[in-house]
Amino acid sequence: MKFFIDTANLAQIKEAHDLGILDGVTTNPSLMAKEGIKGEEAIMNHYKTICEIVDGDISAEVLSTEFNAIIAEGQKLAAIHPNIVVKVPMIRDGVKAIKWFTDNGIRTNCTLVFSAGQAILAAKAGAAMVSPFIGRIDDSNWDGVELIAQIANIFSIQGFKTEILAASIRSSLHIVKCAEAGADICTCPLDPILGMLKHPLTDIGLAKFLEDAKKM
Ligand code: E4P
Repeated sequence: MKFFIDTANLAQIKEAHDLGILDGVTTNPSLMAKEGIKGEEAIMNHYKTICEIVDGDISAEVLSTEFNAIIAEGQKLAAIHPNIVVKVPMIRDGVKAIKWFTDNGIRTNCTLVFSAGQAILAAKAGAAMVSPFIGRIDDSNWDGVELIAQIANIFSIQGFKTEILAASIRSSLHIVKCAEAGADICTCPLDPILGMLKHPLTDIGLAKFLEDAKKM
């Protein structure tokens, strides 16, 4: 399973990259706004900087919702760097745009996916990745990890090549459960990634080894 970091914060992207396990980055308009990135030029420059830090898939989300505008915006984003994956929302014009981008050699990440039916449509249109938002599904009293397992089963039976990118991750346990359920990629904030390092028995064991090492 690949690890993406889900942030537009450059310090956190660098920290995850330094850990040596980072395969890519996802952003969305909320994450960009949180970093104070405003205006087309600043947005483009920010994506360029992220591409310079991480040599992997970098999802850049379109803000348009109408077919022609999505295509124009996606082409601009894709021109920033070969690693850019154009993130397109799961709406009617979005699906049409994903098909257009696929036919024109531009990779896409279909975002805001909350059902297996939506995932099938995105895969049929040729999306490189599909992003089920598992934390938001859990928030509405459904089981987000179960959706990952369902999509993984369907994609395997049907031979779809679209990668399942588990998004809206809230905890280290979510990451482990998504790995078990068949996610190809997990995108998550820095804390759940660092949380996977931790186990109290590791700390106790290391303290004892270091103590005993003084007797060596
Ligand atoms: C990533 O691609 C998604 O935009 C992101 O994971 C959404 O996360 P949230 O539900 O925590 O906002």
